[in-house]
Amino acid sequence: MNKAVYPGSFDPITNGHLDIIKRASKIFDEVIVVVLVNPSKKGMFEINERVLMIEKCIKEFPKVKVECFNGLLVNFMKKNNSKVIIKGLRAVSDFEYEFQMALMNNKLNPDIETFFMMTNAKYSYLSSSSVKQVAMFGGCVKGLVPDIIIDDIRNKIGDNNFYNLYK
Ligand code: PNS
Repeated sequence: MNKAVYPGSFDPITNGHLDIIKRASKIFDEVIVVVLVNPSKKGMFEINERVLMIEKCIKEFPKVKVECFNGLLVNFMKKNNSKVIIKGLRAVSDFEYEFQMALMNNKLNPDIETFFMMTNAKYSYLSSSSVKQVAMFGGCVKGLVPDIIIDDIRNKIGDNNFYNLYK
């Protein structure tokens, strides 16, 4: 079985992530989205909250499931018997960081390959960090994240600061 793993912080999942998930699920028999800890990022959502948000977004994709893991990605890969890591690339600025991680993962386990997918041009400016910033300062996140998680972001940030989409 052709199984791929799509790792990330997903704090929170964006429409750019979901687009990669949809496209990857057309190519692979199974796609496991895994929420991992990125020690260089301070999270807004707890890991289990991120998993719950992703679960809501992937309901219509039977070949996709979500998990979380505390540890090295290569160990998760081994546990799940997968050799393919999927990563999305938005811009040249992503490349150095992604290249370094791909090489490190390959060094840790030479059987593992990272497949890069170019982001959909319409989401090339989008990141979880920018979504959090927009939401925190009262901007509208509709179109940036799946509609189904907008209330989760609102609940995390608090109604006071949240742009009211339903006014
Ligand atoms: O969405 P992100 O923050 O760019 O994803 C980075 C992530 C979570 C995939 C990366 O930090 C990761 O793999 N964390 C687990 C620890 C690990 O295996 N690191 C790889 C060696 S550098």
